[in-house]
Amino acid sequence: MIAAVLLAVSAPSGLTWSQSRAQTTAGTARPIRPPEPAAEAGAFRHLRVLQDIASANEGNRAAGTPGYDRSAEYVSEQLAKAGYQVRFEEFEFPFFQERSPPVLAVHAADGSQQPASAGAVRTLANSGAGDVTARLSAVNLKLDAEPPAASASGCEAGDFKDFERGAVALIRRGTCQFQTKVENAVAAGAVGVIIMNEGTDGRKDAFSGQLSKLVPVPVIGIPYAFGRTLGADAQTGSITVHLAVDAVAGKRPSRNVIAETAGGGDGPLIVVGAHLDSVLEGPGINDNGSGTAAVLEAALQLAPELAQGRRHVRFAFWGAEERGLIGSRRHVDALSEEERRRIAVYINLDMVGSPNFTRYVQGPATTDDGPAALARRELAAEFREHGLNIEERTGTRFGSDDSSFSQKGIPTVGLYTGAGGMKSEKQASLFGGTAGRPFDPCYHQACDAIDNIDRGVLEQNARALVRTLKAVTTLPGGPERRNAL
Ligand code: BES
Ligand code: ZN
Repeated sequence: MIAAVLLAVSAPSGLTWSQSRAQTTAGTARPIRPPEPAAEAGAFRHLRVLQDIASANEGNRAAGTPGYDRSAEYVSEQLAKAGYQVRFEEFEFPFFQERSPPVLAVHAADGSQQPASAGAVRTLANSGAGDVTARLSAVNLKLDAEPPAASASGCEAGDFKDFERGAVALIRRGTCQFQTKVENAVAAGAVGVIIMNEGTDGRKDAFSGQLSKLVPVPVIGIPYAFGRTLGADAQTGSITVHLAVDAVAGKRPSRNVIAETAGGGDGPLIVVGAHLDSVLEGPGINDNGSGTAAVLEAALQLAPELAQGRRHVRFAFWGAEERGLIGSRRHVDALSEEERRRIAVYINLDMVGSPNFTRYVQGPATTDDGPAALARRELAAEFREHGLNIEERTGTRFGSDDSSFSQKGIPTVGLYTGAGGMKSEKQASLFGGTAGRPFDPCYHQACDAIDNIDRGVLEQNARALVRTLKAVTTLPGGPERRNAL
């Protein structure tokens, strides 16, 4: 259940942002001193704060950690000071953090152990912690086809009919979710699970996977070739493996920060959001401090206009996006049918300061005058009027919070500047930067820090958002209906 908690505003202590606020210069008989540096304007100033928060909290701002909680405090205090009604929307999510690399060793007949090479073994997120030594039992691997074909190993309970309780299951990736395979294995009495890659194109090497729920046994992934060797050995004789995952796993509370203007009544609602959490591996300044900073800055700039209450805007800062879009899903799941229908458009910003950027504007294919199509056009117009190229894309980007909304039939619009994908030659000619290099070379890494930002593109996105929100909230009649004004 989601609990709404009204926020008490308290003065933050020890943070650069409170120190760097503009100083007033009243009075005449003051000693001459060097001028104060002007307070930084724009979205970037919020990134300095988020970086300071991460630096003071083990280098990250991930959901379930103090770095996230401080980030939520900063954002909520800024919004409350600007006059918004701010609340926290609480939820629980499966927390998982590895403390040391996983271990997989194969016991040889002479009793010696052969450890797998470090790069070959990766823990699946939400694996159980544990240290087990047991026989290895292969589960419907179907390794004979050449070239390797798609696998459905472990997808059915029947795949485990010959499985020996107390063994470690060797399963092959493919067809159904990791969660289904692992739950079937646990039901059959597996004490650990090794998932080998599928062997089809792009699915051969070591891989990082995520289980959607915490499971009670250790689960690791290995490359296809390694799985073939283990599978062949397990099928011809008896082999024993030592499997260990050292992790903290369990449910933790987290929260979305929601800020709204008082007015708007029962009329249409525009929701603008960005995920506020980082991954555990780094401070998340581009992913997604940048989206957070742009949405926060837009909210602060628009506060006086929105306070007049003509239109209703909800600014949302989502928790636990990196854990599977959890905060935004909880939000849409908790809406009544009527509230859901009131949302005219959801605008999502995720990674809008990428150092080797592209400019994506994503939105509905429709060309009507509905708020979503209007928002997309305004965003595009803002860039074009400043001579800035964009790439327009239709549909929703799955893998960010807009998909939580589009799954409920709410139109979405998004601004993105690219993650770990490679910039093409065409994109380099449109946007500059380097072809053949990732949009963000620090995506989900410790180096996603304050220097991993293109300040220009960040401010361009923030400015486009401000203009668009003005347009969708001030048109005569406003966004009265989803599909037509
Ligand atoms: N910010 C990223 C993904 C992203 C990239 C969104 C470019 C928009 C534009 C997001 O935080 C992320 O890492 N998503 C995951 C999936 C998520 C459900 C954990 C992904 O895309 O792999
Ligand atoms: Zn992100």
